[in-house]
This record gives sequence, structure tokens and C-alpha cells, in this order.
Amino acid sequence: MKLSRFASIALLSSFALAAITFSPRAEEKKSAAELEKEKALQNPYPNDYGPDSIDVSGYPKNHQEGYKLLRARCAQCHSAARPLNSRFVEPDVAKDKKEAAVAELKKSQPDLFKDAGVWQVEGSIWERYVKRMMAKPGCKIEKAEGKKIWEFLVYDGKRKIGANAAKWKAHRQKLVDELKTKKPERFKELESQKDL
Ligand code: HEC
Repeated sequence: MKLSRFASIALLSSFALAAITFSPRAEEKKSAAELEKEKALQNPYPNDYGPDSIDVSGYPKNHQEGYKLLRARCAQCHSAARPLNSRFVEPDVAKDKKEAAVAELKKSQPDLFKDAGVWQVEGSIWERYVKRMMAKPGCKIEKAEGKKIWEFLVYDGKRKIGANAAKWKAHRQKLVDELKTKKPERFKELESQKDL
């Protein structure tokens, strides 16, 4: 049977409609995750110039697990270097004692609060950032995994303060200088946003 002109146009347009209805949805989803990754890579941080792994052989077992998870999950959009070389420090004490611990650090190690490109010490900064990353489109981190990663990041703050503060400062300063030399525009942008 030959289709009438009207029927074939109707048939064609229903195919076209189906194509319009179905394909962009899949693409939209894909591009939301991809866009997030692009955004993460196009806007580098000093952190990204540091190593993407550290030696955790001396860390407690649960934190070694958190580290492993970080290396797998937090490298989906940027490299693991971004969290591992971050200036963020969250005191490693119970939640209700964090603010007091920050106040105590202000007295005992005032230098930690004088150079925002090297340290940013806050009571719940890692909790906030892990949650922020988990809320990004396309992020595949389970709640329990996020908690372990957060706990590792809090423990790992020991690498940046106390007896390790001077070594950490030299490390961070080098990374900030590298960004300044390689991407001066981005450096200025982060500096003006107080997000170095
Ligand atoms: C879905 C993509 C995605 C995943 C997964 C992801 N990030 Fe990010 N991350 C970004 C983007 C985009 C930025 C740029 C800043 C922003 O949007 O917050 C960023 C920035 C950062 C920064 C720099 C923030 C600053 O201001 O110095 C840190 C630290 C960070 N991420 C840690 C993590 C950690 C820890 C994980 C794993 C729990 C993680 N990211 C997983 C996309 C992601």
C-alpha cells in the first residue's frame, strides 16, 4: 500500500518529534556532568600543581581507606591533587569542639591565620566542601564514602600545622607562585575572590 502524502508527512514528523523528545534529554544529562568537569579543569587552583598522591603508610587504617576513596572519587572532575594540596584545615576534634579548637589555634599558632594562600582554618570547612562537591551534577560519591573522605581530610590537616607548618608554607607558596607565573589572569581572579 502506498502511503498518502499526508500520511508520510505525519509519519516523518512523528519520528522527528520522537527524536527531539528523547535524544536531547540524554545529552542534557551527560553535558551537565561534563560541563562540571570542564569548569573544574578550565579554572585551575594552585593545588593542581602539587602531587596527586601522598604517603599515608603511617596513617590509621580508617584514614588510609578514606584516602583511597578520595583518590578514586575526588579525581572525577579534577585531579586528586586539588584536595591533597588544599589550604583548608579543619581541627581534628569532636564536632561540638571544633570552634573552640579554632579559637585555640588562633592563640597558639597565629601564623595560620595570616596567610590565606597557605592556610584557611575553619571549624567545618572540609565538611562543607565535601558536601559541596557531592552536590555537583554528575558526582557519584555515596554518603558513606563522603564521610570517610571528610574524616581523612580532617586528619590529614596534621600535615599543615604545628611542627609541619613551615614545611607546608614553603610547599603552598611554591604552588601559588607557579599559578602566578603560568596563569597570571587566573591568579588575579582567585586573589580578588580571596580563594587562592
Ligand atoms: C562533579 C565534579 C567534581 C567532583 C566529583 C569533585 N569536585 Fe572538587 N571541584 C569541582 C569544581 C567544578 C571545582 C571548582 C570550584 C567549585 O565549583 O566549587 C572544584 C574545586 C575543588 C576544590 C578547590 C576549592 C577552593 O576554593 O580552593 C577542592 C579542595 C575540591 N574541589 C575538593 C574535592 C573533593 C575533596 C572531592 C571528593 C569528595 C571533589 N572535589 C570532587 C568539581 C568536582
